[in-house]
Amino acid sequence: MKSGSIGTDTDHAIEVLRNGGVIGFPTETVYGLAADASNSDAVNRIFDIKGRPRNHPLIVHLPSLVEARLWSADWSTSAEILAALFWPGPLTVIVAKALTVYHEVTGGLDTIALRVPNHAVALEVLRGLEGGVAAPSANKFGKVSPTTAEHVLNDLGSEVDYILDGGPCSIGLESTIVDCSANIIQILRPGGISRELVSHVVHVAEQMTGPSRAPGMLDSHYAPTCRLTVVADVNEAQALLATKAVTQQVRIIDGSSDPTLFAAQMYSQLRQCDDDGIDQAIVVLPTPNGIGTAIRDRLLKAAHGAQTQSH
Ligand code: TXA
Ligand code: MG
Repeated sequence: MKSGSIGTDTDHAIEVLRNGGVIGFPTETVYGLAADASNSDAVNRIFDIKGRPRNHPLIVHLPSLVEARLWSADWSTSAEILAALFWPGPLTVIVAKALTVYHEVTGGLDTIALRVPNHAVALEVLRGLEGGVAAPSANKFGKVSPTTAEHVLNDLGSEVDYILDGGPCSIGLESTIVDCSANIIQILRPGGISRELVSHVVHVAEQMTGPSRAPGMLDSHYAPTCRLTVVADVNEAQALLATKAVTQQVRIIDGSSDPTLFAAQMYSQLRQCDDDGIDQAIVVLPTPNGIGTAIRDRLLKAAHGAQTQSH
């Protein structure tokens, strides 16, 4: 099989997955680095390609709620409510794993992350495979997530067996992760389904307390190579720009005026800064509600990651 090929052939993508291959997989949130979740060798390859620690668990993608229930030993009422309302969609639920699930998939945990993506091409593959697809975002560990097939090609093209091009991702940010495995329901990662919507239908803990229940939810993540600074408004961005030497390539990105549109383009814009040789990006944060909460989460982590690199 030739590495790095890219195309729109879903039958080929299914065949590659059946044969234990790893593919770039389109979803409405970000592109995934996908393998058959019931093939532990294939799942291990995901960790090798991504450079991801083995104890960071993966999300398993299913074609429907009926299929998803089969992957859990204790499908909770809250998971049922959330899945029934928001699937297919940018929501991941954490539930007790079924005994048959390989520990490679869950990083050794006895819980599992499950999601039905809202993307026609992804669903076609999942129905064709008749199984679950384990997939983290298709970027190198700690780096900017991919929202187009070209992003995957640039980052991992020589290492994957096929990249299935399903067009640009419509949401552009990773799914909301809701832990339904314990008595107290927590949002572990904000995403495309807002906290406001989730807490409308299930009782969610106000703020996360103690260490995150999601292994791999690091302070530094999603980082471009350029320096990244976040500011509260456009005036602050202009004031900061005025302090910069003319030799510095600085770009202001406004994430505040249309957060939904910005979410869809955010990772592309961060990648573009690196492609254009920008030294510093100054990003104006949206207000912390709706999708704005997820944007702020990613940008604060990206800023932390960019600052902790050696430049
Ligand atoms: O939108 C998305 O969620 C994308 C697309 C491809 O579906 N996937 C994605 O995967 O963002 P990844 O691996 O980049 O992020 C998954 C997060 C990780 O932080 C991991 O710790 C958490 O989900 N996670 C997975 N299983 C878990 C579990 N059993 N308990 C707690 N956290 C879990
Ligand atoms: Mg990721």
